[in-house]
Formats: sequence, C-alpha cells, structure tokens
Amino acid sequence: MIIAIANQKGGVGKTTTAINLAAAFARLGKRVLLLDLDPQANSSISFLDPLSIERSAYELMTDGLAPVEQTVYRTPVENLDIVPARINLAKLEAKLVGDFDAPFRLKDRLAPFREQYPVIVIDTPPTLGLITVNALVAATHVLVPIQSSYFALEGTDDLLETIEKVRARPNPSLELLGVLVTLHDKRTTLAREVHEQIKKVFGPKLFETVITKSVRLEESPAYKEAIFSFAPNSSGAIEYGNLCDEVMSRV
Ligand SMILES: Nc1ncnc2c1ncn2[C@@H]1O[C@H](COP(=O)(O)OP(=O)(O)OP(=O)(O)O)[C@@H](O)[C@H]1O
Ligand SMILES: [Mg+2]
Repeated sequence: MIIAIANQKGGVGKTTTAINLAAAFARLGKRVLLLDLDPQANSSISFLDPLSIERSAYELMTDGLAPVEQTVYRTPVENLDIVPARINLAKLEAKLVGDFDAPFRLKDRLAPFREQYPVIVIDTPPTLGLITVNALVAATHVLVPIQSSYFALEGTDDLLETIEKVRARPNPSLELLGVLVTLHDKRTTLAREVHEQIKKVFGPKLFETVITKSVRLEESPAYKEAIFSFAPNSSGAIEYGNLCDEVMSRV
C-alpha cells in the first residue's frame, strides 16, 4: 500500500501525519518507507541530520542510472526507513519539463521498493504541481488532512478535482482513503462547527479519529522521535495509533 498524504493548503498537518502514521505502522512490525517529497524537507529533518543527506528524492526521480537503494536511510525508529528530500527537489519541475514520462517518474522508481516495504507513506508539498501529481500517480491511496479552522474547506475542491483527474487516466485504482481532521481544538465552538461541516461534506470518508492540538506533536521532531517514543501516553500517540487502526480497517 502506498499512501500519499496530500492537501495543497499549507500547515494542515501533512508532515505530522506522514511521520506519525508511518511510525505507527512500523510499531506494528511492518517495514515502512517514508518518502519525503517536500523541498522544505520537514519529514526528513524530523528523523535525520540534514548534513547527512546526500542522495535524496530528487536523485531518485532524476538519476535513472543510480541504484535506488542509495537514496534510502535508516531512521531512529525501528522498521522505519526514509527517502529524504533536500532543497534541490524544488528544481524537479524545471528538470522534468517536457519529459513525456514526467508524471510517472516516481511510480517507476518506487517499483523496486514495493516488495520490501508493505507500507510506503509519501509526504507531499503544499502545491498541486508535478511533485504532488507524481505522488498521486504512484499511490494506491490518498489521505487528506484538513485543519478544523475557518477556511478549512477552501481549496479542497481543487484537490478533489486533481484526484479525479489522476483517477481518470494515469491511476484509475487510486482510492481516497479518507479525510482526517487535524489540529482540532475541542474547546472552541468554531472548531466543533467546522468538524460538523466537514462531516456533512465527506460523510463516511471522514475518519472517526480526530487529531487534537497537542504540544507534544509539535515537539517530537526536534528530538528526532515519532510521538510513540517521545510521549507514548499523549493524546497524539493515542490518536495516531487509532488512525493507523482505522486505516487498516479500510484497506
Ligand atoms: N495536532 C497538532 N497539534 C499541535 N501542533 C501540530 C499538530 N499537527 C501539526 N502541528 C504543528 O503545526 C505546524 C504545521 O504542521 P505540519 O508541518 O505537519 O503541516 P504541513 O501540512 O506538513 O505543512 P506544509 O504545508 O508547510 O508542509 C507544525 O509546526 C506542526 O508541528
Ligand atoms: Mg509538510
């Protein structure tokens, strides 16, 4: 299963969800590959020293001759490996422009990993450009985090349209795995109202699990840890564990 975490809106919890969902699967003993496709490299820096990164997602997608394994790094989390990103990924679009296979690069290059890693989680940048399209073409499933705040649903039409376009042609088997409410503040009426509205729009596609606001989730990347070792009893650890269960029950 290849899960792309996507929403072109910035700061909605894509990276936090990618790293902790990946870690939740790894905790169950599955071999997991986290693929960072965001030039900001937030997922990568959550687990690796940026200076230790040589070959990365850019090289994976552009250098046809190099062995793909050279882009894989161990993380401090058992069973969790990562293909990190570096800022050079921002050049990808310019590099691939005009290539007939540009949207399929990732799918082709990930193929050798699929047997080794039953779960691959892709963190995407806050755009609907070529990088995100590559993720959607390679993925079997897409998970959409939505922050429960005012304007939460702004832009989701464009995202759903992009998903439909990818399903129409390059990847008909792509499934919307679900929509996840993130950064939820239960105390505010607005957040509760927005949650109700998201429920109405997405119905059964909305995950029952809600990720509430938690300082622990914000802190853990600074210690190169996922939430399960950093704060095992925190709301974030429980909620991302529940999300993993819910994902497994849906696939
Ligand atoms: N449940 C949460 N509770 C508290 N802070 C959170 C939570 N989820 C995410 N954050 C924080 O909110 C910020 C944005 O989250 P994150 O980086 O995961 O979003 P993103 O969608 O990946 O952003 P971008 O679009 O820039 O890649 C980060 O500082 C992160 O630590
Ligand atoms: Mg991010």
